[in-house]
Amino acid sequence: MVGHTTAHWLAVDQVADLVLVDIVDKMPSGKALDLLQATPIRGIDVKIVGSNGYKETSGSDVVVIIAGIARKPGMTREQLIDTNAGIVKGVVEQVTRYSPDAYLVVVTNPLDAMTYLTYKISGFPRQRVIGESGALDSTRFRTFIAAEVGVSVEDVHAMVIGAHTDKDMVPLPRFASVGGVPLNHLLTQERIEAIVARTRRGGAEITELMGTSAFFAPGAAIAQMVNAIVRDRKRLIPCSVYLEGEYGQKDVCIGVPIVLGGGGLERIIEVPLNEQERSAFTASAGAVREMLGALKL
Ligand code: LAC
Repeated sequence: MVGHTTAHWLAVDQVADLVLVDIVDKMPSGKALDLLQATPIRGIDVKIVGSNGYKETSGSDVVVIIAGIARKPGMTREQLIDTNAGIVKGVVEQVTRYSPDAYLVVVTNPLDAMTYLTYKISGFPRQRVIGESGALDSTRFRTFIAAEVGVSVEDVHAMVIGAHTDKDMVPLPRFASVGGVPLNHLLTQERIEAIVARTRRGGAEITELMGTSAFFAPGAAIAQMVNAIVRDRKRLIPCSVYLEGEYGQKDVCIGVPIVLGGGGLERIIEVPLNEQERSAFTASAGAVREMLGALKL
């Protein structure tokens, strides 16, 4: 569901020609054809095909890796690690063979561990391996802030860093603003804390409601990232990337604010965290490291 929703958002914005790949027999071809048949109505001139293999993806500029199982109600993203590590490994081997120059956008959960795995087995420079975490968590945070303050979502800027897990995500309300007005001028500490808690469980809340994990917002967040790379938009979006000392962390993939453009990860922005934020981020990195231990790389 995340894959075809991503394709839908990308097609609407005419970002690129698209190839949908899945192991389920013929299914991606059906989805691609369905989406293609919507294009005359919307005046969308992109090519969209589906395949059960990787040949059609040869020479892709960007490859989005979503393959894997999704969590069910009551499960954490971390519980998917064994199954999804095997799937992602197989996918990355194919992708790097057919598109050795591609930018890889990783979405499979547990996100930070799968981004790390992709970075390690692809052998690509860190600029070309970027995990979708903060892009998604931040749009959830912005949604809840806009509703609470009673303003357009367009005017809300806010970011979430750290691990893409319910427990260890680090929303940063101190850096949030509405049309340039700091959030703490507009909401009480108690309301802000409630929004932070809801953001952390943003994915879990949906999974409890639907019985499976989210796809509209994840797809839109991926499309935002792909758009930033393909069109060299230089967007400042928090994403999971491989750290080499930034934020006091090394040899780990975790969400931090980056400039995302035609060169992929172009810059990591180090914001001055206060003591409480820094200790939350350090604990978050510790939680990711624990997951990485389970990868047995
Ligand atoms: C979510 C899943 C996709 O947060 O990680 O919805």
